[in-house]
Amino acid sequence: MAGRRGALIVLEGADRAGKSTQVRRLVEALKDQGYQAEGMRFPERTTEIGRLIGSYLENKSNIEDHTIHLLFSANRWEHVPLIKEKLRSGVTLVVDRYAFSGVAFTSSKENFSLHWCKQPDVGLPKPDLVVFLNITPEAAAKRGDYGNERYETSAFQKKVQKRYTELMEDKSLNWKVIDAAQSIEDVHNAIKRLSEAIVTEARDQPIGKLWVED
Ligand SMILES: Nc1ncnc2c1ncn2[C@@H]1O[C@H](COP(=O)(O)OP(=O)(O)OP(=O)(O)O)[C@@H](O)[C@H]1O
Ligand SMILES: [Mg+2]
Repeated sequence: MAGRRGALIVLEGADRAGKSTQVRRLVEALKDQGYQAEGMRFPERTTEIGRLIGSYLENKSNIEDHTIHLLFSANRWEHVPLIKEKLRSGVTLVVDRYAFSGVAFTSSKENFSLHWCKQPDVGLPKPDLVVFLNITPEAAAKRGDYGNERYETSAFQKKVQKRYTELMEDKSLNWKVIDAAQSIEDVHNAIKRLSEAIVTEARDQPIGKLWVED
């Protein structure tokens, strides 16, 4: 039927929770089921804004805290035309981090409120499903050392985890928490079940706006 859109599915969670692994697995599985599906990730480091972010994350440049927050948001906004085009053409997008990462990270810095951090992302396409891959810092650490990028310390990651918990209290979003300490296969099966249901549910609904009362 004409006009059926794809679903916007976001995977969030701490470093090493398994987001990138699960985005790849889910895209493959959806395609195997005959759906159109593509992966996407934020930050997307290939644009001009993305390159500034990449250099910041690799500690090759310093950018003032508010400014980098706005650049992360701008990196999502610059992809909104593409996101809408894909969804409207029936492609389900599986996204590796989205506004929730942006807010959880900046609001873990001194003197940043959750409220301020959310504002630049208000009105982005609203995910139909946000999967939170839940893992303790200890279990995540067993998957390899934190890298050398900015934010990759266990103290900062604990603050980020707390901010995610606050964001998950927002019942206007379809948050689903999955135990990410399970095997890759078990986590995948859980995400696949949730995603197949949401692809069916979302296809006749308009694309919503993130953090906007409807
Ligand atoms: N369920 C799992 N059990 C054991 N190891 C896992 C599991 N999921 C992923 N891994 C492994 O943990 C490592 C991190 O996984 P992945 O890169 O998918 O995490 P991520 O959430 O994308 O991390 P980052 O936030 O750093 O990008 C990889 O080596 C991956 O193979
Ligand atoms: Mg990753």
